[in-house]
Amino acid sequence: MSVVRKISMMVGFSTILIGCQLEEGLNTDQERHGTDRDSDFNREEVSQDQKDDSRNESDIVFDSEDQTSNHQRNREVDVDPDNEDQSEDEEKEGAGHEDESESRRVEVMPDQTFELGSDQDDIRIVQEQLIEVGYQLEVDSVFGIDTQRAIYHFQKEHEHLSNDGIYGSETRAALEEALENKVEIDTNGFAEIQLPHEQKREEDHSEAEIDSVYSENVAEEALFEGMVFVGSMLNVRETPDAGAEKVGRLKNGAHVFALKENGNWTFVYSNDATGWVANPYIKEIPYDSTQKQTVSNPNDLLVLVNKKYQLPNDYEPEDLVIPDVPFPFKGTPERKYLREEAAKALEELFEASQEAGVELYATSGYRSFATQKEIFSRNVSRLGFEIASQTSAFPSESEHQTGLAMDVTSSEVNFSLTTSFGDTKEGKWVEENAHKFGYIIRYQPGKEDITGYTYEPWHLRYIGKKAAKEIDERGITLEEYLN
Ligand code: DAL
Ligand code: ZN
Repeated sequence: MSVVRKISMMVGFSTILIGCQLEEGLNTDQERHGTDRDSDFNREEVSQDQKDDSRNESDIVFDSEDQTSNHQRNREVDVDPDNEDQSEDEEKEGAGHEDESESRRVEVMPDQTFELGSDQDDIRIVQEQLIEVGYQLEVDSVFGIDTQRAIYHFQKEHEHLSNDGIYGSETRAALEEALENKVEIDTNGFAEIQLPHEQKREEDHSEAEIDSVYSENVAEEALFEGMVFVGSMLNVRETPDAGAEKVGRLKNGAHVFALKENGNWTFVYSNDATGWVANPYIKEIPYDSTQKQTVSNPNDLLVLVNKKYQLPNDYEPEDLVIPDVPFPFKGTPERKYLREEAAKALEELFEASQEAGVELYATSGYRSFATQKEIFSRNVSRLGFEIASQTSAFPSESEHQTGLAMDVTSSEVNFSLTTSFGDTKEGKWVEENAHKFGYIIRYQPGKEDITGYTYEPWHLRYIGKKAAKEIDERGITLEEYLN
């Protein structure tokens, strides 16, 4: 069985129509009326998932802790890879490790450099030797935070070593010496020790930056980047074995870095959990984190967010308000919100449109990172990564997370987000007038190569009157304006 099930390429259907109906995660009622739900190409994908689920029914666990979720119990899923040869391999490998344990004390320390995010078998030796001198650690061959903490503490105990939390030749020599002399380190306080990057965090208060540095290291080491596709929850285990201890769970749509493989299991790193997961629930995606940059000005009204420039995952605008404009639904859901200045400008835009006899509705504004993750993974499940990406943003890459974007629609198109909105009286009015209120139609036809998305006559982005006027006059994109 191939280790990675590549995302199937969906071709030969009307991208525009289907894309638009799924776009933006119209998780409103209108979406449910869309014709896309039962289209043939989707059925194929769904049945594949069902096949996976049913094959592993015996591994599905109902978790009473999670019953809070609406109407459905969360299912945890593993695969016990139904491959007997593989289980034998695992047993053999397990035995191998035990045999080695006796000789650990005399194992040669690896002559390499390891740092946070490194994932190589020989890290196991370093971890075992750190345990030998007194640190309490898990031996998992991954240079995670705990291993870094131990190295950093060890370096502090040895004044001649530089305090960088990296295992290199000097730290290795000192560790060898400590082992030889049977030194027991006083590891009191080691778990609380501040790591170099944590000190940096205090300096610049930028947790997101720390996360991205960590991810960048991992991204460079990764075999591939993938997404979790599962009913709801996927178990993450300590070793590649369905019976191994659970170290976490990943939700459907979680973005993971695959760091190593073992039979039908893959060792993944993600923001939520790190450990072994069963292959059938991980799909490779054509996404390369090393090519992305995190913006340093997320609060700027002119912030550029696209497939290259991302928002910090945890970015939330601080001045979200609900604009006083018509929505085709009730309540105060997240998607009614916009940042204050954008909300005020939208109210002015709507007022002017009403004076012109144009009846607009706002339908999708602010979206948190978590919401975008749900939306995007749902679209990928239906369409495959490549097609979904033409109309839907990867989490942290959506302008909706800035609180500066609002999708607008009209009754003529049944309050949906469809390219035909551009041909309606409302769509034309928006096209002609949005810039007067500081908004632009962000994704224009013919500019797909620059913006990364197909035409969206409904997606308004607030950038302020000056920039909007110039963009309108010159017929350019925000990318071109900012360059
Ligand atoms: N439809 C735009 C690209 C978004 O998902 O943010
Ligand atoms: Zn939008």
